[in-house]
Amino acid sequence: MVSSPKSRHRISDDAKDKFSQVFGGACRIFRAPGRVNLIGEHTDYNLGFVMPAAVDLYCAVAIAPRNDRELHAYSAHFGEKVVIDLEPPGPSPRGDWSDYAIGTAVALENFGYALRGANLVVSAEVPLGSGLSSSAAIEVSTGAALLNIGGHTLDRKQLALACQRAENEFVGARCGIMDQFISAHGRSAHALMLDCRSLDSDLLPIPSGVRLLVANTGVEHQHAAGEYNARRQQCEEGVRLLSAALPGIRSLRDLSAEQLERNKSGLPELIYRRCHHVVSENQRVFEMAEALAQGDLQSVGNLMGDSHRSLRDDYQVSCAELDIMVEIAAGLHGVVGARMTGGGFGGCTVNLVDAREAELIEHELARQYEARTGIRPEAYVLNATDGVTEVSN
Ligand code: GLA
Repeated sequence: MVSSPKSRHRISDDAKDKFSQVFGGACRIFRAPGRVNLIGEHTDYNLGFVMPAAVDLYCAVAIAPRNDRELHAYSAHFGEKVVIDLEPPGPSPRGDWSDYAIGTAVALENFGYALRGANLVVSAEVPLGSGLSSSAAIEVSTGAALLNIGGHTLDRKQLALACQRAENEFVGARCGIMDQFISAHGRSAHALMLDCRSLDSDLLPIPSGVRLLVANTGVEHQHAAGEYNARRQQCEEGVRLLSAALPGIRSLRDLSAEQLERNKSGLPELIYRRCHHVVSENQRVFEMAEALAQGDLQSVGNLMGDSHRSLRDDYQVSCAELDIMVEIAAGLHGVVGARMTGGGFGGCTVNLVDAREAELIEHELARQYEARTGIRPEAYVLNATDGVTEVSN
């Protein structure tokens, strides 16, 4: 179990120390958070609604400008340095960690930001491949650092969009906007409800007395990326088939539950189930916002449970370990709600828990999960935190 806040908050120092070892000289430090999503899963690329919170597990980037247009990027995790030139023809993806950082630089330049060369160290404590969005944290921290030393003011929306572009076009993952947006816009003690079409957002206070407990199943299933892209295609297929009868439909965001039921016969069963998840999940995001505002924790818990079942049965992105973890949490005293979070096929569950019982629940969840699966899980009691920021140094 890893939950020592002390060890978690030294990541900017790690980046700084590594910078002086690898490059020497002064540096500035930028830090971007990972995220959990409270509800609204697999809705972002359908231009629907999501409710993530930035969490206090970070990626830190230590950076200093160079006098040329080269980026010398060093990963503290992999102990490896990659050197590229921003001048034409520009870098190509390497298929490793550096694509997140270098791809962000390329995307920012394509957005019209002229960048300077830089030496930089990337150091992340967001566990890699756990569904807490380590990739967005790397992109957003690198992007903010490069913009800053390039003399550009930070437009958080543009930064999030450029980072998503990096992931879509340089890394090659067709993710939506949620992860990069929340890593750039998070707010301490709040979740954020985001309209993924307009990018309008509302901050929602997390009820006092409730903590975020994130538990890592410790599994990361193969083919998750392929399955993710397949889900996107199935949603697009749903839109294509439905738009014959419903010409106004541009994405599943535009579809109501009633329209879906009326046109069900025109859809293969599998496509119908995918659409059903997205339409019902969008609805749950609104109900969750209402329940949080009312302090109605009973409804919050029910909505999280419904979301998990919909992801398991209709969208089929859960897995045995996630289901076990959620099932155990549901039986523990003091748990308000539990569900898988992120893309699925392994990774983490998010649990809203009674603050007074958080440590006890963390312990018991890990104990029962290990007893049933043989896997010792990591669990973190986390705080909702601010989006990307420069750390004083
Ligand atoms: C991953 C993607 C996000 C989102 C979630 C599922 O985290 O990066 O854009 O689609 O999966 O909600």
